[in-house]
Amino acid sequence: MKIITEKTATAASARAFAIVNELAQHDQLKVMGLATGSTPLGLYKLIRESDLDFSHSTSVNLDEYVGLQPTDPQSYHYFMQEHLFSAKPFKESFFPDGANPDAAAVTKEYDQVLAQHPIDLQVLGIGQNGHIGFNEPGTSFDSHTHRVALTESTIAANARFFDNPDQVPRYAYTMGIASIMAAKRIILLAFGEEKAAAIQQTVNGPVTPAVPASILQRHPDVTLVLDEEAASQL
Ligand code: GLP
Repeated sequence: MKIITEKTATAASARAFAIVNELAQHDQLKVMGLATGSTPLGLYKLIRESDLDFSHSTSVNLDEYVGLQPTDPQSYHYFMQEHLFSAKPFKESFFPDGANPDAAAVTKEYDQVLAQHPIDLQVLGIGQNGHIGFNEPGTSFDSHTHRVALTESTIAANARFFDNPDQVPRYAYTMGIASIMAAKRIILLAFGEEKAAAIQQTVNGPVTPAVPASILQRHPDVTLVLDEEAASQL
């Protein structure tokens, strides 16, 4: 694993943008895997303000809540529209279809999308419990797209985006660990001391499903882009 640490989240986002920019300049971003959450917002802002053009690229998002329409302001679809696609449209953008309750159909369809669009660069955040996408602790490393019941800690952490915690969906569709590991390159961003323990376990801990991100130790091209707080336990 390559680890880049910057003093602030802003500086780290700039480093992440430099990686994206470099790949885009060399036409190596035909398919971009995207993440939601607050962590990539600085990166997305820099992309919005850049002159990069994704109109010939495809995006695939990591996950989506079950039960929300793409037009729902709390959906990840809406989030991406607001923070990236409105300014930088892609040729095509894919999400697991959160509006469809038929998990077998949705996950099969999304695995087909991923098979047809191998990811050049996957952007990841990380949960405080080491989850990536919505792959909570205990998820098999062999998993492909699947439906997950969110853990109480993830529901609590994501409640800040909702008016009250009861509105946070209890289920999500997410790319699996194997889907993420199939990406050619991965950058994982983590900012703030609440991520420090997860980063420490991801980098120095055993590779175990108890810490889903620890599997990244086995990926050939992973860069962690951290601020000092997230790196403080390394
Ligand atoms: C959610 C998302 C993850 C994200 C995580 C951390 O659980 N499914 O993809 O990495 O939140 O969010 P944040 O970046 O806001 O800390």
